[in-house]
Amino acid sequence: MSSEEPLAGSSVNSEEPLADSSMNSEEPLAGSSMNSEEPLAGSSMYPADHDEPVGTPAFTARPVAAEAAPDQAAPTTLSTAQDVPVERPVQVDTGVFDELTRQRAREIIARYPQSRSALLPLLHLVQSAEGYVSQAGISFCAELLELTTAEVSTVATFYTMFKRRPSGEHLVSVCTNTLCAALGGDEIYATLCKKLGVGHEETAGRPGSPGSITLEHAECLAACDLAPVLQVNYEFYDNQTPQSAVALVEALQRGERPAPTRGAPLTDWRNTELQLAGFFGEPQQLRDAVDGPSAAPETLAGNRLAEERGWQAPAMPDNPPPLPTVAEKK
Ligand code: FES
Repeated sequence: MSSEEPLAGSSVNSEEPLADSSMNSEEPLAGSSMNSEEPLAGSSMYPADHDEPVGTPAFTARPVAAEAAPDQAAPTTLSTAQDVPVERPVQVDTGVFDELTRQRAREIIARYPQSRSALLPLLHLVQSAEGYVSQAGISFCAELLELTTAEVSTVATFYTMFKRRPSGEHLVSVCTNTLCAALGGDEIYATLCKKLGVGHEETAGRPGSPGSITLEHAECLAACDLAPVLQVNYEFYDNQTPQSAVALVEALQRGERPAPTRGAPLTDWRNTELQLAGFFGEPQQLRDAVDGPSAAPETLAGNRLAEERGWQAPAMPDNPPPLPTVAEKK
């Protein structure tokens, strides 16, 4: 599959609310145990012209779409004879997903004893095909997994890795969590906003076209020892400065793929999504993707010191003391 093709229906600011995710409050699907904080109202730390949220920056949760797109029929509820509300399925054409994508979807589903457990990789597959999770992508997953579109939407709108607008060839994620922010992450993000002329989850260039870049600020990327960090398509670029970040996005815009500091070689965002769905292409590509250096010297500094000085953690006792009792929840 080519990841270079322009995305169907792409437009930079085509905010496309997914099917109403507030309709169904059934329990979360497998793997959906992440942060469920309420959406924050915003941040004054970023340029005002980018329409950023204000308040404490905690960007993991995103607001739930309140309205369906005007050109899409919103799911509605019917009443049965017993007055039990049921969802009327949204009629959306899923023909945009070709046979190869459908074959891959079947392979994903076959990995799990319960088909609904395949939802997260299936959403990554949708993004590899379309560059975002469209309404058709929601229906595609719902049909294959025998879920409601509301159930799929609750998951797709919960995780920030699932995009609701067509994304660029590359996704640049700048960590603006505490440590990175204090060491320059905020400045890097503000610099890239200005350089690219976009704000959070906006795309410079036509989404999907060569050199297009979607920018986002991100929560802690688990590389605080190398702060400030950014990622391109989830690959790490450590110890960044505003200058190095600008040089990086300029290289991406020229079509270059600078090597990440560690990890797999850089590909484009849609191919990354395909990998996240579990498809790595040829065996050599798989090796390239997993054999990159993964630990930086800074990460191993404590371990190295301990080895040099002969430090060891105390051995676990054969009979560890019992855990304190916890009051039973009523
Ligand atoms: S705060 Fe940026 S990686 Fe942890």
